[in-house]
Amino acid sequence: MNILLSETNDEWADKIKNFIGSEGHSLDVAISGRDAQSRIYKRNYDIVILDFSTTNHSALEVLRYIRMHNPHLKVILTFSSKQFFDELDFDETELVKMGASDILIKPFEMRQLKRCLLGDIQFDRWKKATETRARTPEAHEMYASDNEFTRIKADGALVINHAIFDIYVRVGKDRYIKILYEGDTLAQNRLQEYQAKKVEFFYFKTRDRGAYINFINVLLSKVMSKINIAPSTKVELTKNMVDKFVEEIYTNGIKQPLIDEGKMLSQNIYQFIQSDRDLDYLLKQHVEQDANFKYLHMFLVSFFATIICKSTEWARTRTIESVVMGALLHDIGKIKLPQELRLMDSTLMTTEQLDLYKQHPHLGCILLQPISLIPEPVLQIVGQHHEACDGSGFPAQLTSTKIYPLAKIVGLADHFTNLMLREKLSPQESLRFFLNDRKNIHRFEADLVLKLAHGFLGHDKFVQQKI
Ligand SMILES: [Fe+2]
Ligand SMILES: [Fe+2]
Repeated sequence: MNILLSETNDEWADKIKNFIGSEGHSLDVAISGRDAQSRIYKRNYDIVILDFSTTNHSALEVLRYIRMHNPHLKVILTFSSKQFFDELDFDETELVKMGASDILIKPFEMRQLKRCLLGDIQFDRWKKATETRARTPEAHEMYASDNEFTRIKADGALVINHAIFDIYVRVGKDRYIKILYEGDTLAQNRLQEYQAKKVEFFYFKTRDRGAYINFINVLLSKVMSKINIAPSTKVELTKNMVDKFVEEIYTNGIKQPLIDEGKMLSQNIYQFIQSDRDLDYLLKQHVEQDANFKYLHMFLVSFFATIICKSTEWARTRTIESVVMGALLHDIGKIKLPQELRLMDSTLMTTEQLDLYKQHPHLGCILLQPISLIPEPVLQIVGQHHEACDGSGFPAQLTSTKIYPLAKIVGLADHFTNLMLREKLSPQESLRFFLNDRKNIHRFEADLVLKLAHGFLGHDKFVQQKI
C-alpha cells in the first residue's frame, strides 16, 4: 500500500514510520498540510494518516481538499490526546461526515493502526461488540470509496440482539449512510425499517469481513443440526459464508484465522449432509449462477467433495478438512489469469486461451507454496485437480495410481459441478446425465463415482438401479 503520513510530533512520526516500514508498505512523509495536499495531487495514495494538529494548511483544509478532489482516499485522522479531542467543536460523526475514515487518539497502539490499515484479523471480534444503548445515527450521507465496502443481501442474517458492526446503506457511487452503529440494540428494528423500504443490500466495511465470516460460521454450527431451521436458510447462509471466505482469501490473502474458519466450515457442511431432509433439499434444487454469489462454484465443489468423503471409510475429520479447504482453494491460480478467462467455460475457449487456462493448477501451487499455513494435501489438491485417471488431464497427464487420492475427489466434484451449472440441471438430474456420459465417466475413478452416487442414495430411485 502507498501511505502518506503528516505528523507533527517527531516521536510519533518515528514510531509510525518504523511500524509502516516493518509491515512492508511504502511511505511518504509530508512536512505540512500544504505539502500533503501537493503530494496527494501528484501521487496515488491508498491511505493518508493525518495528524489533526497539522499546520500550514490545517487538517480540516486538507480533509476538504481530499473530499473535493479525491473522495476515494482513505484518511486516518490522529489526535494528540483525549482531552484535545474532547475539547474540539466536532464529534466523531461530524469528522466522518467531513471525510475521515478512522479516528485514532494518542496514545494508540500500533495494532490499532494496523486494524485501520488492513482490517481486523481477529475474526471473533464481533463477540466483544457490547450492547450499547440505542443510538440513532443521523441520516447524513458520507463519502467513502466503494472499494472499502462489502455488500450483503438485505435479508441475510446480520444481527443478534445488537449490531455486530457498523452497517450502511449505499445511496450512490461512493456515497453511504450509516444506519447502525456497532453495539446498537435497535438493530433488528432498524434493519426491518430499511427492508420495508425495499433496500436490497446492506453494506459493511470490508475490514469487518473476517468478523462476518466468523459470525456466520458460528451461527451455522448452531443451526446445522436443528430440524426447525429450513434447509434453504442453511444453504443460503453457507453460500454467503463461502462467498465472503473466498473473497477474503482472494483479496487479503491467507491468514491463520481463515484456516480455522475453513475447518469449522468443513464440519458445518459435513453436518448438513448428514441430515436426509437437508441433503434431499440440496440435491433437488436447480442451482444457477447468481450475481449475488460470486463463488457459487466453490460452494458446490465443497459440498459434492464432502458427499464423496461421507461414503469413504478412510476419510476422517482431518481428511474432510483438507478436502473442503482444497475445494475452496482449488482454482485460486485463476486470479493470475486474464480477467475474461476466470469465469469462462473451458469448453468455449480458443486453443490459446485453453493453453493459458491449463496453467491455473500450477499457478495456484506457486501462490500457495510459500504460505506455511497451507498443508501439503491442500497443495496436492490444487495442483492435481484437473488430472484424469486415463491420463487425459492436465498439467502433468498423470494416470490413476499417480494422482493424489484427495485430488481425485475434488476433481470429480469439480467436473460434476461444472456439468450441473452448464446444463442447468439439479444435482439429481446431473448425476443421471453423468452416469450415462460414457465419454467422460472413465476419466474418474469408478470407486469414487460410486461413492458420489451413494451419497445420493435414498434420494433417487434411478441412481439406485444404475449402481
Ligand atoms: Fe480448475
Ligand atoms: Fe473449478
